[in-house]
Amino acid sequence: MTASVRSDSTIVEVKLGARSYDIVIGRGVIASLGARIAALRPGAKTFIVTDENVARHILPAAEASLAQAGLRSERIVVPPGEGSKSFPVLERVCEAIIAARIERGDLVIALGGGVIGDLAGFAAAVVRRGLDYVQVPTTLLAQVDSSVGGKTAIDSSHGKNLVGAFHQPILVVADSALLDVLPKREFRAGYAEVAKYGLLGDAAFFAWLEANWKDIFAGGNASGSSAREHAIAVSCRAKAAIVARDERETGDRQLLNLGHTFGHALEAACGFSDRLLHGEAISIGMALAFDFSATRQGLVSKAEAARAVRHLAAVGLPTRIKDIPGPPLTLDQLMTLIAQDKKIKRGALTFILVRGIGAAFIETGVDQVEVRAFLSEKLAER
Ligand SMILES: NC(=O)c1ccc[n+]([C@@H]2O[C@H](COP(=O)([O-])OP(=O)(O)OC[C@H]3O[C@@H](n4cnc5c(N)ncnc54)[C@H](O)[C@@H]3O)[C@@H](O)[C@H]2O)c1
Ligand SMILES: [Zn+2]
Repeated sequence: MTASVRSDSTIVEVKLGARSYDIVIGRGVIASLGARIAALRPGAKTFIVTDENVARHILPAAEASLAQAGLRSERIVVPPGEGSKSFPVLERVCEAIIAARIERGDLVIALGGGVIGDLAGFAAAVVRRGLDYVQVPTTLLAQVDSSVGGKTAIDSSHGKNLVGAFHQPILVVADSALLDVLPKREFRAGYAEVAKYGLLGDAAFFAWLEANWKDIFAGGNASGSSAREHAIAVSCRAKAAIVARDERETGDRQLLNLGHTFGHALEAACGFSDRLLHGEAISIGMALAFDFSATRQGLVSKAEAARAVRHLAAVGLPTRIKDIPGPPLTLDQLMTLIAQDKKIKRGALTFILVRGIGAAFIETGVDQVEVRAFLSEKLAER
């Protein structure tokens, strides 16, 4: 440990045998980035992939930390937004990494939100048949979800995340103070994934979120509160445990898709635009999953489902299809998108359903006709 490594950080380990790695969580931990990398890969060259927004707010601190630890770094700054998870931008990133003579033993650093994590992680997976990389997530969504677990991808004209690889980072450094400059709407959208961990498998965490969400949003502005860091750590621990059990999503990891079948369809129907952010879509998707589990499947009481939805609404997240701004979505459009997202086996769909808050399970036999009837009701609520 050097002087720049703060002691009030939390470390969550992702246990994957020889590919295990630490997630370092805390306010100000980006200052320790260089020292931590130097400890793991002495003398490595580093190559930072980031976007224009993150470059403006955060890149100087990351570069300063690397320089202080005596590490050389080069960088590429790509445009912000989902459009950068594309073949043309991937090509630019790969060529820049190669031009910078980053070789085996050196490191790629993904500095940004989920877009940068997915793009830089995939570039690292394919350049020279695999380079090591470090995730420095700068959005709440990336800190609690996308930077952990090794899924990397770019988008195809046929859909999102269709070209990618499983490639685990060697370190994740999640500095909660970076979220102070994140737009509120992005923060709130990322919070949907935090709430997801409570809703899918941890009722006590969900109850804690109900009581403490204001401190999580306030972050360092709340006097002496470490609610935000706690929420990130619990979320990472939950994801790490699931990933350790099922790295390639053949079983349990599917639980992380709570709210995502409905959510992806809504997101796609809105063209993956600012009209509906991923986390906002997942919030509506989780509300629908609870509602569907209660009213159509009789798995959970309506009161329990209402409690789940109430919390999402309390933080300002959308929970109903009619909360989506713009022209109404149609039933056929949503059903087509759901069918594309999940393969249908003899008219049956796989959904993550719930028996209660903290009790999600994988249901492989959901009748398409039921889903259609349910969504038709929800669309009529307009
Ligand atoms: N690999 C996975 O397991 C996984 C999981 C979930 C989502 N994802 C992917 O993550 C992506 C979404 O990630 P996201 O929500 O982080 O979006 P994002 O990366 O587009 O970031 C959102 C916006 O915030 C800006 N930004 C980032 N950090 C900032 C900061 N600290 N201050 C100010 N502005 C900042 C970005 O420039 C961007 O404009 C999607 O492409 C999704 O497919 C991947
Ligand atoms: Zn998600």
